[in-house]
Amino acid sequence: MSSKAIEWGLLPDTAESVDGRLVIGGCDVIDVVEEFGTPVFIYDEEHLRRRCREAVAAFGEGVAYASKAFLCKAMAKVAHEAGMHIDVATSGEMHVALAAGVPGGRLVFHGNNKSSDELATAIDVGINRIVVDSFDEMDRIDALVAAGRPAPHILLRINPGIEAHTHEYLQTGVPDSKFGFPLTDGIAAQAIDRAVTSVSMQYQGLHAHIGSQVFDVDSYGRAIEAVARFVKESNADEFSIGGGLGVAYVEGEEADSITTWADRIFNAVTASGISARVLAEPGRSIVAQAAVTAYTIGTIKVVPNVRTYVAVDGGISENPRPVLYGSGYEAMLPRSSDSDRPLRARIVGKHCESGDIIVREADLPADVKVGDTLCTPVTGAYGHSMASNYNKVARPAVVFVCDGEARLVVERETMDDLLAKDVG
Ligand SMILES: Cc1ncc(COP(=O)(O)O)c(C=O)c1O
Repeated sequence: MSSKAIEWGLLPDTAESVDGRLVIGGCDVIDVVEEFGTPVFIYDEEHLRRRCREAVAAFGEGVAYASKAFLCKAMAKVAHEAGMHIDVATSGEMHVALAAGVPGGRLVFHGNNKSSDELATAIDVGINRIVVDSFDEMDRIDALVAAGRPAPHILLRINPGIEAHTHEYLQTGVPDSKFGFPLTDGIAAQAIDRAVTSVSMQYQGLHAHIGSQVFDVDSYGRAIEAVARFVKESNADEFSIGGGLGVAYVEGEEADSITTWADRIFNAVTASGISARVLAEPGRSIVAQAAVTAYTIGTIKVVPNVRTYVAVDGGISENPRPVLYGSGYEAMLPRSSDSDRPLRARIVGKHCESGDIIVREADLPADVKVGDTLCTPVTGAYGHSMASNYNKVARPAVVFVCDGEARLVVERETMDDLLAKDVG
């Protein structure tokens, strides 16, 4: 962190400073806040569309947007219109994508514990691919097909046993993981044999997602090397590397673009002798930098010789990443987006937890005051999608900004919403 103005590269593509005020998608962020209130997720729609188109250009047909990063109908439409498939990991995500008008044939269905009902729905909507994760799931597909459903096209999720350099909770390809068929003890080979010879599954190939927020491309190279033999020996038509491309959240971090990531993946795939079509499922790298969260500062508390606390009207309910993963963020005031930020402060929320920290060590302009709008950039991924109602805090609104227009795409929850399912 530094006392300088915010690093502009962390902001959405169309962000600009107009007389010092932060403007995104042609909309003044403070005007958006006046119209929709805080906290609010403000997404740059052009940024979203550009990243989706970049992914399609880099990987081609079949590249899927991992909707767990951020999903609502408007987002599903953006990804679909740009030509992406949509990766859904539950029947809930599937429901939202279908409600947005995305055909079942454009969906890829993930999950380590899919129920028979979920699998049946997936087959009934004509799912494009099911990424099969266990022998129990194979049993359930066998039963559904035996009962008259068509055999779905499937990929098998392999656990390559690779430690990706990222937070432990974000690693999925390590030996001790609940995801996929391990390469050890002949288990992956057994799963492939069963899928290839099964009449209830149309085997398309293999899938290996090693984790999320991965910066080190060598981790992918090692995963690709580990599974290459199985891809070739099973005559797989497709090989999916999953998602996981890391993004910069704070000053000084540097991340590959989707295009560069794809080039590196293709190089590693070619080097390993795989000729199957390469697929991918980026999530975070499509949406993370597209959004800022805007809050209102309600309390500033100086604890002498310790620190300054700046409390905003949100917290771990709409951004649990700092407490879950120790993730870092920057902060800025959209009224003074070019200003130096010499004041070191801790940005906290309004929840009843000492761990309710949004930015552990933030830099802010010296004249920050109660009532100011404060923005945290790079909140487009795993923020709204991980939001909760902890402390009965209503989830924020989501607004897309584009060409000078601000469009509400997810309404702010109301107090009545908090009671909507209470029947006692
Ligand atoms: C199977 C799978 N694919 C894709 C992704 C998306 O990863 P990211 O958002 O890091 O690109 C995830 C994230 O956990 C995943 O589990």
